[in-house]
Amino acid sequence: MDIGIDKIGFYTPKNYIDIVDLAKARNQDPDKFTIGIGQEKQAVPMPYEDAVTMAAEAASQVLDDTNNSDIGLLIVGTESSVDESKASALFLTDLLELPADVRAFEIKEACYGATAGLQTARDYIAANPDKKALVIASDIARYGLNTPGEVTQGAGAVAMLLSADPRILKLENKSTFMSRNVGDFWRPTFSKTAFARGKYSNQIYIEFFSTLWEQFQEKYDVTAADFKAMLFHIPYTKMGSKAMKILEGNIDEDKLSELKASYQESIKFGKVVGNLYTGSLYLSLLSYLLNANIDSNEEILLFSYGSGSMGELFSGKIQPGFKDAIDIKTIENILQNRNKINISEYEGIFGQGLENGQKTDVKAITSTYYLSEIKENERIYQSHN
Ligand code: HMG
Repeated sequence: MDIGIDKIGFYTPKNYIDIVDLAKARNQDPDKFTIGIGQEKQAVPMPYEDAVTMAAEAASQVLDDTNNSDIGLLIVGTESSVDESKASALFLTDLLELPADVRAFEIKEACYGATAGLQTARDYIAANPDKKALVIASDIARYGLNTPGEVTQGAGAVAMLLSADPRILKLENKSTFMSRNVGDFWRPTFSKTAFARGKYSNQIYIEFFSTLWEQFQEKYDVTAADFKAMLFHIPYTKMGSKAMKILEGNIDEDKLSELKASYQESIKFGKVVGNLYTGSLYLSLLSYLLNANIDSNEEILLFSYGSGSMGELFSGKIQPGFKDAIDIKTIENILQNRNKINISEYEGIFGQGLENGQKTDVKAITSTYYLSEIKENERIYQSHN
């Protein structure tokens, strides 16, 4: 049975900052941020937006009256949890009006969370071919003002509906994965911002990719020639280019040029949004699907990396007619109709958050789903639907 991604949706907050403005405010050469890091814009979430509201926005693009009742599994991959006990998936069963007989929970392993969700959902569909699984990656990537990681922040969500006979990406049963206890990036429970050993994290990312690619070639007797594209988890767009350097001198020159060209198509969205943490790989997939010239049934490789660290390299086949299963207009609208804010506005928003007993001013809201208040220390969500 073919199993994979049948629908995909995406959301990023309306506000963004220009990376050149950020460079100037931080006394950095703008070329370092635009060329050295490879970013153009960075999404800035409002205090009424969080992992739950962004997940609901992305998921609303893949749900309709015909598929809601078939969903038996909802997994949210996030490292921007809003509660230490209750899963964000539970708030979503309500906001998305999912059936009661759904297994709903949250998965955390840094940027790998959604891939853990995807592989779990694949097994679920194999055992329940008539059912569907909703996997949502939703995160706010934050390192703090004036930190080296600041230029690599971002926010947003990607929602994927998995089913039998998928219309977008068939997951091949090919995968290599590894885990290792590494101190490259972490966020203790007391902190809203992450800590990173930046250069060390780059090195570990590349080591994981290199090891898993070696293993993948051996395990499945394949070479780079078997793939039209390699898609990466994108903390910032230069990262995938750095990882691809391991291919230089080891594969055919023309193939390398083709893979580099495909990579450029896959980072178009990440470049203007920033790091989505666990959603970043799937934003690369979406960017590739909507920007590249895709062959019928082409096979692609996907590299998922979560600090701490867990990595997985797996492959999938893009399905003919995949564009019919994506709400392209809505996604274009989200990316094109954004609002640039200046650095002092961004710094003002950065520290803000709703306190217990406070309500959001509904007049100022630009999203459909929002955190409306915190009452008796409980987060209350609402939608404009
Ligand atoms: P930094 O120390 O400020 O930057 O931190 P740098 O000095 O390394 O410079 C960056 C690049 O810009 C270098 O290129 C410079 O040469 C270049 P590279 O050597 O890397 O090819 N450069 C210039 N280029 C053009 N014109 C100039 C110029 N000046 C310098 N004038 C760092 C950069 C990425 C380390 C920092 O932003 C950081 O710590 N980010 C957060 C950590 C991160 O994103 N790590 C990525 C791998 S780990 C991962 O992906 C997992 C993660 O998503 C978390 C999760 O799993 O949940 C992060």
